[in-house]
Amino acid sequence: MPTDADLFLAAETVRQKAHAPYSGFAVGAAILADDGKVYAGCNVENAAYPIGNCAEASAIAAMIAGGGRRIARIYVTGPGVAPVTPCGGCRQRLREFADNDVMVISHGVAGQPLYQTLGQLLPYSFGPDYLGR
Ligand code: THU
Repeated sequence: MPTDADLFLAAETVRQKAHAPYSGFAVGAAILADDGKVYAGCNVENAAYPIGNCAEASAIAAMIAGGGRRIARIYVTGPGVAPVTPCGGCRQRLREFADNDVMVISHGVAGQPLYQTLGQLLPYSFGPDYLGR
């Protein structure tokens, strides 16, 4: 079973491939999925700023395309000291594929990792269960 060190390495490896020429803020995300595999993604920015993708969204797309269905754990890395926590939109994206007790590890690589559950990051959330799924 992949460890947090494996997830950190996967997030950092894919982060080097980020397309972030506008913000200069490269982010990597590594998902441990229900199939035991690790799916990674980076942010992909666009000259039309709002259509850029976050690293978490890229990692979710890789998971679904690769056959994983549920998120067991996710590790996010970015620059600086402060933990790079998923943006509000990505918390909701994660909610689609992760239970509230799933651990989200946010790490600004010059600092220390922050361990929070998805339920802590997105309390009282709206999810698939509201629609009977
Ligand atoms: N970004 C992510 O990819 N994930 C996060 O959790 C925070 C922000 C990206 C979006 C944008 O490309 C850049 O970081 C600056 O906001």
